[in-house]
Amino acid sequence: MSTILVTGGAGFIGSAVIRQLIAETDVTVINVDKLTYAGNLQSLISVADNPRYCFEHVDICDTATVANLFHKHQPDAVMHLAAESHVDRSITGPAAFIETNIIGTYTLLQAARKYWNELSTERKNTFRFHHISTDEVYGSLGEAGFFTENTAYQPNSPYSASKASSDHLVRAWYHTFGLPVVTTNCSNNYGPYHFPEKLIPLIILNACNGKPLPIYGKGDNIRDWLYVDDHARALRLVLERGRVGETYNIGGWNEKSNLEVVHAICTILDELRPQDAPYASLITYVPDRPGHDHRYAIDAGKVAHELGWKPLETFETGLRKTVNWYLTNPDWVDAVISGEYKNWIQQNYSDRGAS
Ligand code: NAD
Ligand code: TYD
Repeated sequence: MSTILVTGGAGFIGSAVIRQLIAETDVTVINVDKLTYAGNLQSLISVADNPRYCFEHVDICDTATVANLFHKHQPDAVMHLAAESHVDRSITGPAAFIETNIIGTYTLLQAARKYWNELSTERKNTFRFHHISTDEVYGSLGEAGFFTENTAYQPNSPYSASKASSDHLVRAWYHTFGLPVVTTNCSNNYGPYHFPEKLIPLIILNACNGKPLPIYGKGDNIRDWLYVDDHARALRLVLERGRVGETYNIGGWNEKSNLEVVHAICTILDELRPQDAPYASLITYVPDRPGHDHRYAIDAGKVAHELGWKPLETFETGLRKTVNWYLTNPDWVDAVISGEYKNWIQQNYSDRGAS
């Protein structure tokens, strides 16, 4: 692979993928991102001046511009991460989820298909369209069992329904048009550069600022947590060696209730930044999320057996790294909390297409 077009590269997972690709491979990366509230180029400062990195400020719903990107950069693969990604936002404002996650994926698939059709036979055979999706498409589990690649889709939130739709489109573009696709469905990620609307960074930063730690409902909902760099490694493996037309579930074998997660963060903070009262005293129960899925748990056996992937971090080591990162990166944190990161992008990238 020499050139990979990464959509959503200024987001949490996309930026981790790009930092890894630049640091650990010799590929050229084209970061295609609209820079919504979740896109933050400050997460990519370490690669911004690398000659193998290029930023394109583009909305994936913009048909003409997306088509031009393929002609201009001649990618060997697409890693499609651009999405609206927060369940709570999908409840209060689903339109952007339908637009980006469904129409945006459709737009990208059409552009990729046209480009792919015109490639030489050799390049056609090696081209890949890698769609990055979520385990939330499978719905909610009871106390037992795991999501496998054969679990029926039962999305419950506007977010998961929009991602399920995009998964189906990707599947159809493979079966109907022969576009060489792979799809991955991953569990909840956590780690550095995570926008503090999601549970783990929100709890860390609220705790540090003496604010309430909001727990939806009873806090007994269960998520399967994976450190973001482990996800990025799995994505690279699937792109390189995954079988065309297949889907791969990726998860950390780390099931935790939300209350367990919040207590684990508080315990680490009690140790690293002790205060008079334990941080857990800030825990506050708030009304539950409508339609709140009870439990997600991934059987990651296929990606382990077929491709030899396994996570390097346990939940304990990954969470400690994460808390430590938020404590030692006040510049990134302050810019995100104040909204200053948008001005920073304006000042630093206005000459490179960002506005
Ligand atoms: P994120 O919200 O942090 O980042 C999304 C990125 O996409 C942002 O940089 C944003 O600017 C960009 N974007 C949004 N709309 C766009 C558009 N119309 N055109 C171009 N760019 C646009 O999301 P994330 O947590 O990094 O998730 C990345 C992908 O991984 C998503 O597809 C998500 O569904 C999937 N996923 C996430 C998780 C998780 O726990 N975060 C787990 C499994 C799968
Ligand atoms: P979140 O990080 O939003 O990810 P997702 O909804 O995609 O799983 O939420 C993780 C879990 O934490 C989920 O069960 C909802 C819960 N939660 C809270 O209890 N309080 C909060 O403030 C947030 C943001 C989430």
